[in-house]
Amino acid sequence: MLFDFIRTNFVKTLLTNKDNMDKFIIEGGNKLKGRVHISGAKNGALALMPATILAPGTYHQKNTPNLRDVWTMSRLLSSMGIFCELNENDLFIDSSGISSFEAPYDHVKKMRASFYVLGPLVARFGEARVSLPGGCAWGPRPVDLHLKGLEKLGAEVTLEGGYVQAKAKRLIGAKIHLDVSSVGATGNILMAATLAEGSTLISNAALEPEITALARMLVKMGAKINGIGTNLLEIEGVGELHPVDEENIPDRIEAATFLIAAAMTKGTVELENVNPYHLTSVLTKLEETGCKLDVNGNNILLEMEDEPLPVDLTTAVYPGIPTDIQAQWLAYMLLANGTIKITDNIYQDRFKHVPELQRLGASIEIIENIAIVNGAKRLSGATVMSSDLRASASLILAGLVTEGKTEVLRIYHIDRGYENIESKLTKLGASIHRVKTELF
Ligand code: UD1
Repeated sequence: MLFDFIRTNFVKTLLTNKDNMDKFIIEGGNKLKGRVHISGAKNGALALMPATILAPGTYHQKNTPNLRDVWTMSRLLSSMGIFCELNENDLFIDSSGISSFEAPYDHVKKMRASFYVLGPLVARFGEARVSLPGGCAWGPRPVDLHLKGLEKLGAEVTLEGGYVQAKAKRLIGAKIHLDVSSVGATGNILMAATLAEGSTLISNAALEPEITALARMLVKMGAKINGIGTNLLEIEGVGELHPVDEENIPDRIEAATFLIAAAMTKGTVELENVNPYHLTSVLTKLEETGCKLDVNGNNILLEMEDEPLPVDLTTAVYPGIPTDIQAQWLAYMLLANGTIKITDNIYQDRFKHVPELQRLGASIEIIENIAIVNGAKRLSGATVMSSDLRASASLILAGLVTEGKTEVLRIYHIDRGYENIESKLTKLGASIHRVKTELF
């Protein structure tokens, strides 16, 4: 009964949110004040969920954010015969009944993280057919490292009709060096290697906390992994794994977004349920801009009284500054008096938010992968368009400080990765309203 109720409501939520074109209307000028609970990490959940393919049985994943990308992953797993139920932030999965080894284009085109199912499927079932993700709003995002890694593990990888097909009787351990420290490739190869015969070495592995969290879950499932938290992962393959319950880590990008929002509005905000260690580089940068920070266990209190000092930013792999906060930082630096250089070394073209911020009065020039901000210009409300998840976050942040009303269109992008962003901001004192625009 309870499960039926939960399932019905889950499906209702999915339908209500289906491809709507909601917009936000934001009145700038309110200081943010109060406490905000940070949700579980989107990118954490998207790695933990496909790991359930590796062993049949039931899983309870706590602190799973209730947001669109998680729904997309649930739908993908369900289409393969895996039972998924999300009850608020408790995700229940039963992977006993997998009947299909395919990830169709419809799911993968919505979310690249769908590609994560490739490694576990081929490792456990010896075959997988996964659509190639294609491009992304801000440029090419290849998957060559995922495929090279699986080939090294002995899979026969072919491309046909836009789909990657991978086959192997049993994967065999190998030495794999990632030319680029890719989060997705590390996760995919790591999951595959847990069930391979013999040992696998992944060098230049991603260090992102979401990968460490995945590795920890795999170890609980019975995988043998050495070097967790370093860029050299050593995996000794095992014959089988078992299901486990796991708690997802807090979302460091959501946390950083709220800290920047608080600083922009000269507010006083306390974040709850964060891992400050995961935010070390971001907290240091915020302090350089003049913010006062107080870290207490899993809480971070930020106070800001003045306009920020101009502080350059360069994105890098963890523990460097995440590319996922580049857009928000850019919005922040619109308030600083000076010239600020913001360099994205991970995604060279990730500047779709710039022309939209210019509509609000920002002065920004792009030279290759560097945005040069001439800060402290007057910002006034306008209608702007979201192009991707973090770009939408930067437009919302800018809307909080512009004079007058800002309308942010196509906010389905923000719904992919932020749980209840408007109610969290409203609780902190922002004036932000969702306007539903039904297509039919
Ligand atoms: C993940 C995150 C995303 C974040 C990104 C970088 C998830 C679901 N998404 O994406 O939010 O912005 O990490 O921190 O966790 N690359 C290749 N070949 C490949 C794979 C990647 O050249 O096969 C390159 C990319 O073009 C990019 C760099 O590696 O320049 C990092 O990308 P990667 O870490 O793979 O990003 P994702 O895992 O897709």
